Amino acid sequence: MEEIITDVVIIGAGPSGLAISACLTQYSIPHMILEKDDCNASLWRKYTYDRVNLHLAKEFCSLPLIPHSPSSPTFLTKTEFLDYIDNYVKHFNISPHYCRLVDFAKYDETEGKWRIETTNTKGGGRREVYLATCVVVATGENSEEYIPELCGLDSFEGEIVHSKNYKCGSKYKGKEVLVVGCGNSGMEIAYDLNEFKAQVSIVIRNPVHVLTKEMVHQGMSMLKRFPIPKVDKVMAFRSNLEYGDLSIYGIHRPDEGPFYLKQVTGRSPVIDVGTIRRIRDGEIKVISSGVKRIEKRKVIFESDLEKDFDVIVFATGFKSAANKWLKDHEYVLNEKGMPKNEVPRHWKGEKGIYCAGLSRRGLFGVSMDAKAIADDINGTIKLTAQASL
Ligand SMILES: Cc1cc2nc3c(=O)[nH]c(=O)nc-3n(C[C@H](O)[C@H](O)[C@H](O)COP(=O)(O)OP(=O)(O)OC[C@H]3O[C@@H](n4cnc5c(N)ncnc54)[C@H](O)[C@@H]3O)c2cc1C
Ligand SMILES: *[C@@H]1O[C@H](CO)[C@@H](O)[C@H](O)[C@H]1NC(C)=O
Repeated sequence: MEEIITDVVIIGAGPSGLAISACLTQYSIPHMILEKDDCNASLWRKYTYDRVNLHLAKEFCSLPLIPHSPSSPTFLTKTEFLDYIDNYVKHFNISPHYCRLVDFAKYDETEGKWRIETTNTKGGGRREVYLATCVVVATGENSEEYIPELCGLDSFEGEIVHSKNYKCGSKYKGKEVLVVGCGNSGMEIAYDLNEFKAQVSIVIRNPVHVLTKEMVHQGMSMLKRFPIPKVDKVMAFRSNLEYGDLSIYGIHRPDEGPFYLKQVTGRSPVIDVGTIRRIRDGEIKVISSGVKRIEKRKVIFESDLEKDFDVIVFATGFKSAANKWLKDHEYVLNEKGMPKNEVPRHWKGEKGIYCAGLSRRGLFGVSMDAKAIADDINGTIKLTAQASL
């Protein structure tokens, strides 16, 4: 087997991997990116629904060293964001090694290096080995779909789709569709399905905050100067003004504020794209109880409501799958494949391993992680170079 030796290996060519590559290039540190897909930013290019746009303002969605152009709109569309990524990749001359699925990585005590093995999915499954002093896990919080274990799901005779593979509602016209999960993806997919004349029901069992993207923009800007409780008060006030009491529609506001909950649980508030109005108009039905079991086409809810569905969309989120290939994950990740250390030192592990983009803080967090990691690697490599003189 061929062995390739380099200073740094970055695993994943999403925004995190690209951002670290750019920062390392600034320091002239040799590195390689290994990416299992055949393109950069594949989550955004291939695994997001057509309607998705950035719902955070552009100042919170840029990667290090290149801010968004002053002439671009405050909220970028997916296409505009991908143009930005294309330009970023070109500017820093980033050239990931595509179709390299990392399926094994382990710290080699005797060599004092990380051994990373890949399957070349384009090269007939050929295996390659990389040896690196530093390795960065940049495989994303969204690497694997999460679908809850529901009783009888196997017996469902309709179509099951996870939000990761949902593109557009056009193929569901006239169908009875159940959306499970009421985060941003679930709420926006429900809207999309209704746009395309599907009969939509959405399960909203737990309390959620509903805000507009403008409110969230104001909140994030305020956080630079005001403490969370104060900002949350403003959000509650504005949300109330905009939406009033939504509890008659089965949407309850949590007791704790939106930014507080984001900080402690990582869960984002729902940024409404027009779904609430459709719920008020009765075009999208809210089901306020969880799924009890499924029998063929029938879904039975905890409230004993029963209804037949043609399609179930699971917008139930993702999980990190890094522990599947990262042996010795305990140097940097916990049992769930998320950082073992607390924010703000979550990105640094032991033995030269780092993780980026795993702190549930979106592109803003990605950018902060990338800068911190590149600075740290720069320090480490300089020290090693001095020691060997
Ligand atoms: C629908 C949706 C909307 C979002 N909207 C926003 C938003 O508006 N603003 C915001 O800030 N954030 C948003 N996010 C969060 C999103 O996670 C970040 O924008 C960003 O994509 C994270 O970048 P990343 O590089 O960490 O992860 P990813 O983009 O997931 O990239 C990880 C890369 O690693 C590769 N990979 C995984 N496993 C392996 C392996 N074993 N070997 C090799 N390669 C591997 C993957 O193919 C992928 O290319 C959204 C996410 C989703 C799903
Ligand atoms: C990034 O991906 C896009 C889409 O596949 C492609 O057009 C572009 O050339 C890629 N850039 C590099 C440097 O691989």
